[in-house]
Amino acid sequence: MLSSLKPSPADPILQIMAEFQADPRPNKIDLGVGVYKDGEGLTVIPKAVKMAEARILESQDTKSYLGLLGDVGFAGLMADLVLGDTAPSDRVGAIQTAGGSGALYILMNLAREANPDATIWASTPTWGNHHAMAEGLGVKTRSYAYFDPKTRAVDVGRMMDDLKAAGPNDIVLFHGCCHNPTGANLTLADWERLTEMALAQGFLPMVDIAYQGFGDGLDEDAAGLRHMAARVPEMLIATSCSKNFALYRDRTGCAIVVSGSAEAQVAAKANLMTLMRITYSMPPDHGAAIVRTILTDPDLRKVWEDELTAMRTRMLSLRQSLADAMRARTNSDRFDFIADHRGMFSLIGATPEQVARLRDEFAIYIVGDSRLNIAGLREERMDEIAEAFAAVGI
Ligand SMILES: Cc1ncc(COP(=O)(O)O)c(C=O)c1O
Repeated sequence: MLSSLKPSPADPILQIMAEFQADPRPNKIDLGVGVYKDGEGLTVIPKAVKMAEARILESQDTKSYLGLLGDVGFAGLMADLVLGDTAPSDRVGAIQTAGGSGALYILMNLAREANPDATIWASTPTWGNHHAMAEGLGVKTRSYAYFDPKTRAVDVGRMMDDLKAAGPNDIVLFHGCCHNPTGANLTLADWERLTEMALAQGFLPMVDIAYQGFGDGLDEDAAGLRHMAARVPEMLIATSCSKNFALYRDRTGCAIVVSGSAEAQVAAKANLMTLMRITYSMPPDHGAAIVRTILTDPDLRKVWEDELTAMRTRMLSLRQSLADAMRARTNSDRFDFIADHRGMFSLIGATPEQVARLRDEFAIYIVGDSRLNIAGLREERMDEIAEAFAAVGI
């Protein structure tokens, strides 16, 4: 039977990782893979994580099952981190998941359970897994206009026009902050208008917030989502600790459901437990225990928040340096958008040929759609990188 399987296409980002590793050139630079890197090019374990791990190692006395909801203390803390005090607590339920991907998967499952005819709308472009995951679950998908390749900003007018067609059978997926792959984000005014649309048209907002704290700050990055959560009757939120706690491989995330009433919340939680049971049952514990330890201890929390601030300010400064270097190199302001974008990524507008030339002639690796990982830039090589971008005609 298994011989009938055909190879499925390789993930382009994994392909770039393999090509980068095989490249013998010592000056190669990886601006492709979506992990944060420090000034040395390393993805280090934050001190706060190490300190929490040491405490857990000392105090943990069992590895017995936690239950289908995972670490409920962790999930409550994550709901607070994301929502602040905006949504009424009896209407909010949160469960631990295996990463942000696990949260999206379980929430899409829940949406399909609630309405088998539902369609999930995602931005153009969006993180590749959004459509793939929904389609894998047999959920219909549609796209709404988002990024304007000319201005390199959100095309608010076209987005709103497209979303006029979304109604009660639709789920509209938004990036909470730090849009992947574009780096162009919704303003608070956009969130306010989208909230009005959700209320008037009855669509269910779903927010993927995988980079909280990577844009302008923990509260600033959640401000739009919080505005919406305080006003709409129902909302789905997928959050991840992969980036802001650097727990990538520990697979730590949280699915949050805002329901229309306390009774609906009880039903949603029961459905989530059933869905968890038939997917991977329970999420891994270690990462959630680390996050719970950090968020409940004021000293550890301060260490973590300072480390997160350092990551964010480094990315903001790299953005400014690249925009300045491109301005100097090209004598134009058309790369100022790099400094205006937020988060780990920007779509820089290179053609596939230019992306290939960057790799072949300059050993600079970026994703084929021209997504640049800002955290991969090196301050000391900024002029060289800007020169390469200018040389291939970006
Ligand atoms: C927009 C977006 N959502 C969700 C995720 C999933 O993150 P995780 O590694 O926690 O599954 C990512 C990861 O890159 C992402 O970029």
